[in-house]
Amino acid sequence: MTMEGDQNSVETNQNSHPPAGAGGDGRNLELSGHVGFDSLPDQLVNKSVGQGFAFNILCIGETGLGKSTLMDTLFNTAFEAEAAPHDLPGVKVSSSTYELQESNVKLKLTVVNTVGFGDQINKEDSYQPIVEHIDKQFENFLQEELKIKRSMHGYHDSRIHVCLYFIAPTGHSLKSLDLVTMKKLDSKVNIIPVIAKADTISKSELHKFKIKIMSELVSNGVQIYQFPTDDETVADLNSTMNGHLPFAVVGSTEEVKMGNKMVRARQYPWGVVQVENENHCDFVKLREMLIRTNMEDLIEQTHTRHYELYRRCKLEEMGFMDTAPDNKPISLQETYEAKRQEHIQELQQKEDEMRQVFVVRVKEKESQLKHMEKELHERFDKLKKDHTEEKKQLDEKRRQLEEEINFFNKKKQTAAEEAMQHSQTMGKKGKKDK
Ligand code: GTP
Ligand code: MG
Repeated sequence: MTMEGDQNSVETNQNSHPPAGAGGDGRNLELSGHVGFDSLPDQLVNKSVGQGFAFNILCIGETGLGKSTLMDTLFNTAFEAEAAPHDLPGVKVSSSTYELQESNVKLKLTVVNTVGFGDQINKEDSYQPIVEHIDKQFENFLQEELKIKRSMHGYHDSRIHVCLYFIAPTGHSLKSLDLVTMKKLDSKVNIIPVIAKADTISKSELHKFKIKIMSELVSNGVQIYQFPTDDETVADLNSTMNGHLPFAVVGSTEEVKMGNKMVRARQYPWGVVQVENENHCDFVKLREMLIRTNMEDLIEQTHTRHYELYRRCKLEEMGFMDTAPDNKPISLQETYEAKRQEHIQELQQKEDEMRQVFVVRVKEKESQLKHMEKELHERFDKLKKDHTEEKKQLDEKRRQLEEEINFFNKKKQTAAEEAMQHSQTMGKKGKKDK
């Protein structure tokens, strides 16, 4: 028997003896006694059972289509769900998690509901909150994976594993809201379409309605979940069930006595619709496919297809890639280094641009200031000139006034002298007359 780790001796062996049977990776060897690794599947089962399972269902459908009732019927319990109001301005996503146990198997079930779906006049963005919710769960998982200290073991995986899309039992065709929503979601989640309240539609109409729905989905390129046919044990069952899609379901919280058994049913004045009667509806088919046969595949598909796509797009968006443009493999380290350099260059370029802008601004400001200084100088010169001119005029006026004053004083003096002479003359004349 060859021991693991004794790689060289195995390789030498392989060179001397061509590998028997298996395709090149290793040699088939006979064991000469019981080793025990045939218990690996049991070990896995025990481990999984110990850990418990998480399953997350998203129910999309117009208000009052029977989403909560179907969940109660599927899991044979009563989840506390309140009826949604019809007047919400937008679609809301509400999520509740429950711990269920059957035998010794624990299931952490999350039921995500759309509240107010289809109630708005403008339904254009009705899918948006749903897409955001699905992406958010992918993002949380990716962030956990990217952490240096990951705790994937105890991590509550909230990624949506299946979307039950409730179609109104109109008997006509899908509404454009249904097509748009399913188209937006088909690359993010496993969609299983169901015809809600199928007891309200006649058998022949239901048959035509199913065909119509499937042809509309195909012609609009909507990819719904196909039950896998690669596992031989379930291939036949699954391929038959693929032909029954979309399942016409009936839900009920009531139990009715049929013979000596209590069964889930809806009672009408004209008869009883038994939920678990395959002649009445496809509820059993849905439960079989969703819970009993393909739950694990739904979880796996979510991880390997939908999450993988999200992860790839997200990492590419962040600049990571597996191969360089020249098709050579590129490591995370190299990508990181290249991104760092790119970032540094970008920063440098931004810094240069800012510096240039700063220099231009400073120059502009400088020339503005110079211009203002020049203007101020010109105004100062003008004022100075005006002032000198005014002073000159004033001096001239003063000189004229002084001349006038002098002239006046002279005149005054002359007049006084004349008056004196006159009085003297008059005095002499008077004496003579006496
Ligand atoms: P919201 O949460 O308010 O959006 O409603 P919902 O989609 O959860 O519907 P819910 O399960 O509350 O059911 C609404 C009504 O439809 C209730 O009166 C149910 O009894 C009835 N109902 C549920 N399932 C069926 C069904 O399969 N057939 C018929 N005829 N009625 C159903
Ligand atoms: Mg509800």
